[in-house]
Parts: sequence; C-alpha cells; structure tokens
Amino acid sequence: MMILAPSMLSADFKVLGEDLKTTEENGAKYLHFDVMDGIFVPNISFGMPVLKSIRPGTNLVCDAHLMITEPIRYVEDFAKAGADIITVHLEACEDVNATLAKIKECVCKVGLSISPDTPVSALEPYIEKVDMILIMSVYPGFGGQKFIPAALDKLAETKAMLDAKGLQVDLQVDGGITIDNVEDVIKAGANIIVAGSSVFSGDVEANVKNFVEIIEKYE
Ligand code: DX5
Ligand code: ZN
Repeated sequence: MMILAPSMLSADFKVLGEDLKTTEENGAKYLHFDVMDGIFVPNISFGMPVLKSIRPGTNLVCDAHLMITEPIRYVEDFAKAGADIITVHLEACEDVNATLAKIKECVCKVGLSISPDTPVSALEPYIEKVDMILIMSVYPGFGGQKFIPAALDKLAETKAMLDAKGLQVDLQVDGGITIDNVEDVIKAGANIIVAGSSVFSGDVEANVKNFVEIIEKYE
C-alpha cells in the first residue's frame, strides 16, 4: 500500500486543525509526528501533550518518529497519547530489542530508523521484529533540508534484504522529498512517503493532491 505521511513539523500551527483536515480529505493517510529532544538531534519540537490534543480531531494514522535518546523511556507515554506507530532510531537505543519489544507491548506498530551515516546492514538483526523501516534521507533534526541521494541505494538495499527473507515490512523515507524526487524513492522501494515542507508550504490542498496523484500510480 502506498501512503503519504505529511510531517507536521512544517505545519502552520495557527491553522493546524484545518490543515490536517485538508491533508486527510485529499488522500493523506498518516500524520507524521516528529519528536525531537535537543540531545539525539540538535533541535526541539513537540511531545505527548500536543499529540494528545490533536489525536481526537483526526482520523489519520499517527506515526510518531522519535528522534530522542533512549526512547524506551517514553514509548508508553506516546502510546497513551495516541500514537499508532512508534519509530525509534537504532542509534539512539542502548537495547534495540528491548525498545522494539516495549513498542509491541504497548500495542503500537513497530518502526525502526537509521540516520544517513548508519549502514543498512545494521538493521539486519531486527528486521523480523519490525512493521516498518525508516530510511532517513536527511540528517534528522530539521525540516526543509536537501535530499541525500545515497538514500536511494539504501532503500533498494533494504528492500532487497526484506524480499530475500520474504518479509512484508513497510519501507518509509523521510527528508527532502518533493514532487520531483518522489518517484525516485518509490522506484527504489519506499511505500510510505514523509513530506513536510513540500506539503505545508504554499497551497496544502494542491500539494497533497499532487503527491497523492503520483503515489497512487504505484498502488
Ligand atoms: C527531519 C524530520 C522530517 C521532516 C521532513 O528530522 O524527521 O520528518 O519534517 O521535512 P522535509 O520534508 O521538509 O524534509
Ligand atoms: Zn520524521
């Protein structure tokens, strides 16, 4: 299944409720919720209270991307706040297996991410324990960065690794995705497309429609 996951990080919070409705009505299926702690990444965003507040106002699947050190400490809180999927960074976990098990125990879908400097091979011990893999195509921490082309090879390598084991795991890509490169990441194997600035700058409705039109061709 092909999915557009608009990243709220780039939204205009004055009109957040309206803009989320616009994304939902025009074919986005996930809401990508970027959590930053100022330690794992050099930026701070938002956390559980914000998720708890927006959750009842949307039917989008809430996809929490935790860019925080030792995320196991907060998995339960994000699950309670309404996350449907919780993605943690491999680099941020002291015990990756325990962290993934904790997400599962909280009845959320399990996501595991790697930053640009981490090789795909690092994911291998965990691929049978996850529902989604997130390949970062920028250094995590900020919206609006330029896509790192090496992510294409990493997506293809991950897809090949999953296919070789016959695993049905979603493959998400996040960072610098635009209307112009979205087909490249899909061809490389991604099926969940995160887009922040290219969805929320300018005309949100037109942006979502443009993305969905392209993505749906690959259903
Ligand atoms: C970056 C975040 C992204 C970010 C993407 O650390 O994980 O989700 O919002 O923003 P764009 O699409 O603008 O690169
Ligand atoms: Zn993200």
